[in-house]
Amino acid sequence: MAILNIRKFGDEVLRRRTDEVETFDDELQRLIDDMVDTMYAAPGVGLAANQVGVSKRLMVIDLSVGKRPDELHVFVNPEILESEGSVTEEEGCLSIPDFVEIVTRPERVKVRYKDRQAVDREMWGEGLMARALCHEIDHLDGMLFIDYLRGLKKERIVKKIQKLFRSGAW
Ligand code: NI
Repeated sequence: MAILNIRKFGDEVLRRRTDEVETFDDELQRLIDDMVDTMYAAPGVGLAANQVGVSKRLMVIDLSVGKRPDELHVFVNPEILESEGSVTEEEGCLSIPDFVEIVTRPERVKVRYKDRQAVDREMWGEGLMARALCHEIDHLDGMLFIDYLRGLKKERIVKKIQKLFRSGAW
């Protein structure tokens, strides 16, 4: 197992739509294990494969950050089937470290996906789980949470990141 380098805002792999996973081989299992290690080390509650530079439709979520084994979920080729309600809350991202912004997300979402053994599954996520599911699926579609910001708010965050980038701190 290994801790992988998390790509940051500005890396084009984060902006590319990821490809469906077709082969559930040893390489995929190793990638999943490495992504889980990387998420826990960050620490974070979710990680998408393109955040570690692999443009595949794969993501991991663990709201307990490794404290409770049954809370680790691996989602291969996930898609949102239904969503209900809305919640406006602060949100952050490992690819945009140290920035949090208010983003509106559904309160509940139903997702269809395959687990790491390629078994078809469906689940409803609620609250923070719904937010994490939407956030990570956005990653797989090449989107970041700051894309939901508008006007001055967005300009301000992009300027701050550009400044950090120029100073070599990004
Ligand atoms: Ni993120």
